[in-house]
Amino acid sequence: MVFVTGGAGFIGANFVLDWLAGGHGSVVNIDKLTYAGNLKTLASVADKMEHIFSRTDINDRETLDKLFAEHRPRAVLHFAAESHVDRSIHGPADFVQTNVVGTFTLLEATRQYWTGLNAADREAFRFLHVSTDEVFGSLGPTDPQFSETTPYAPNSPYSASKAGSDHLVRAYHHTYGLPVVTTNCSNNYGPYQFPEKLIPLVIANALAGKALPIYGDGQNVRDWLYVGDHCAAIRTVLEQGRLGETYNVGGWNEKTNLEVVHAICDMLDELKPAATGSYRDLITFVKDRPGHDRRYAIDARKLESELGWRPAETFETGLRKTVQWYLSNQGWVSDVTSGEYRSWVSEHYSA
Ligand SMILES: NC(=O)c1ccc[n+]([C@@H]2O[C@H](COP(=O)([O-])OP(=O)(O)OC[C@H]3O[C@@H](n4cnc5c(N)ncnc54)[C@H](O)[C@@H]3O)[C@@H](O)[C@H]2O)c1
Repeated sequence: MVFVTGGAGFIGANFVLDWLAGGHGSVVNIDKLTYAGNLKTLASVADKMEHIFSRTDINDRETLDKLFAEHRPRAVLHFAAESHVDRSIHGPADFVQTNVVGTFTLLEATRQYWTGLNAADREAFRFLHVSTDEVFGSLGPTDPQFSETTPYAPNSPYSASKAGSDHLVRAYHHTYGLPVVTTNCSNNYGPYQFPEKLIPLVIANALAGKALPIYGDGQNVRDWLYVGDHCAAIRTVLEQGRLGETYNVGGWNEKTNLEVVHAICDMLDELKPAATGSYRDLITFVKDRPGHDRRYAIDARKLESELGWRPAETFETGLRKTVQWYLSNQGWVSDVTSGEYRSWVSEHYSA
């Protein structure tokens, strides 16, 4: 039995689905169901005994304590976060509350539970913290990629709040001996990503014949990782990672935003051609995001050489799977963005 926080979000839900499909054991899925959390994503496992969903805020210490006492997990995999940089610029308070205070509350609840375990269970227990490469700041065009020893230099309220949570996790290992491992991952893409992020947004807008907005000059570089590869990396670090260590996870796929949008347009031109011409014609450059980091790139050699993980997908194969998934799951997109879905959640999960 493991706890997954944020398991109704993009990466957390992919992790839960993969975990259950792989027969790795039971999951208690702890998620507040913000706008980013979607039970529709988990519909295929809703009736499985191995999946227990709890609509819980990680700031709710009392409920966390009850869940620990009842289910006695061998690990906590912590994905829950406010995750969208643009939202953090307009409303940073939620980011501090969930990413910093919520992580602190979860660590405290975990520490209390872990301290009460017998020696063997205490030794086997793991707290895996899922973080981001954005904590390292921004790179120049020729700078070496981020490694695990790159100094932290977060630039947005999102990355600053994630950096704060990383430091708390580290401190709980050094101060209390809590058995933690942290992963810092690059940009993920794949099925079930909320259509506010670049790749699903571009697919959704292109299919609707709307403008494809690109910030600034489109030359910001990100290192893209297929979500299934990220989930495999997390399972590897959970089982084999050295305690107190951090592992960078990346796809060796540095692309400018313009290259990404071009690749999506070209794939859609092939798979679902529009009568009006190429989807590239819809590209529109918009005012840049304030403080927009220029380049992120991950050096994932530690994870590869120590634990033997490598991504299975190239950008071409991962993007093709993703575009095909969105083409076949238009209903999911309209469901999760509709007011109807939100009212369904409040009806079923009113406090
Ligand atoms: N998406 C990426 O490209 C990326 C890259 C690197 C790291 N990460 C990290 O991976 C994790 C998951 O990212 P994602 O893209 O799946 O995010 P997401 O926004 O899609 O999902 C976040 C989930 O957390 C839940 N949540 C938010 N606040 C909560 C709270 N207070 N209590 C309980 N649940 C809460 C939401 O309901 C949602 O289901 C985050 O920690 C993020 O920082 C993401």
